[in-house]
Amino acid sequence: KKVVLAYSGGLDTSIIISWLKENYGCEVIAVAADVGQGAGELDGLDEKAAKTGASKYICVDCKPEFVKDFCFEAVKANALYEGKYMLGTSLARPIIAKKLVDIALEEGADAICHGCTGKGNDQVRFELAIKAFAPDMPIIAPWREWDIKSREEEIEYAEARKIPLKINRETNYSKDKNLWHLSHEGLDLEDPANEPKYDEILEMGVSPEKAPDVPTYITLTFEKGEAVALNGEKLEPVEMLAKLNEIGGANGVGIADMVENRLVGMKSRGVYETPGGTILYAAHQNLEEITVDKETQHFKQQVSLKLADNIYNGQWYTPLTEALLAFVDKTQENVNGDVKLKLYKGNIVGAGVTSPDTLHDLQTASFDEDDDYDQYDAKGFITLYGLPIKVKAKLDQKKKK
Ligand code: ARG
Ligand code: SIN
Repeated sequence: KKVVLAYSGGLDTSIIISWLKENYGCEVIAVAADVGQGAGELDGLDEKAAKTGASKYICVDCKPEFVKDFCFEAVKANALYEGKYMLGTSLARPIIAKKLVDIALEEGADAICHGCTGKGNDQVRFELAIKAFAPDMPIIAPWREWDIKSREEEIEYAEARKIPLKINRETNYSKDKNLWHLSHEGLDLEDPANEPKYDEILEMGVSPEKAPDVPTYITLTFEKGEAVALNGEKLEPVEMLAKLNEIGGANGVGIADMVENRLVGMKSRGVYETPGGTILYAAHQNLEEITVDKETQHFKQQVSLKLADNIYNGQWYTPLTEALLAFVDKTQENVNGDVKLKLYKGNIVGAGVTSPDTLHDLQTASFDEDDDYDQYDAKGFITLYGLPIKVKAKLDQKKKK
């Protein structure tokens, strides 16, 4: 028997290798998905997986696809969960699950295993995405089966089996890192009454008070809603995001602290670092303001809300998400142009936007005379537009008498 395990090299997935072998008598193929979590998390994983008892280690580079087909789609859609969360973990789960399935089928595996707890969103996201490509693939979720209940018990389990642990200054926050974001949950953060210890937890950047006292200006060029150049330099999506993470992080941009509603019912507090993503959302939105017509813009807000829910809830590979993304792509045809931004101590301030496809007409918008707008027309417009209000007011007056 063979099981494909979503492997990160952390404590959970390390002990899962032993646990699978002991409880399922299977060989374990450890699969790491590189979604940009960085060398710190990926280096030496092959050796570690082998030492921990995996029969094979596979690392798949998902970065280009992750950024282009997931993160940049989120930018175009302006998908934001509950007004704050830029969906960094939610966006990565579907592509990781898809790669797990690809490998499981190639290797002729009998099941796929993941290390998500039974209390979170990630289990749902992984499993719904697995079902979309391998509807009958058995899924093993040790956290829902074993009787290990705490971090301490995990460490005991590991020590008893001589599983190598990464004993460094790593804290016990539950973190999830990729090119788009870094999430922090657990420990003192669990109680929303506590202010996050930003100086300890931030990794992608600094807090606003530690950012430079002078602003940084950047110019982003968009084509069909996708950022293609930074300060005039063409960049591929992965490089673009990496650069923006650096610049945003240095300026204290993109830190969100929220209590979110998990799919499985409870409220949960998290701190998110999404420096590059926050810049992209802001820039993209400024450009949409001049390039997308009013009705489309307004309808798109509804689509954004629904898409964000779908992404959060693990519904990436569904007909509805596909259809909504197709709508979003259609709206981006004229989202071309340059957006200048000023980054300053956690703030993103617009510093000018231009587009060859702008719908903003200076002559019409100005207070001066123009050819397309006759002020006299406004009189008739208001008469008709205000008719229901007038009728209602008359009725109210009649009833008072
Ligand atoms: N609460 C966020 C979400 O549901 C982040 C989850 C982080 N996952 C993790 N395994 N640490 O998308
Ligand atoms: C987990 O429970 O595995 C992480 C948090 C989440 O999935 O929401």
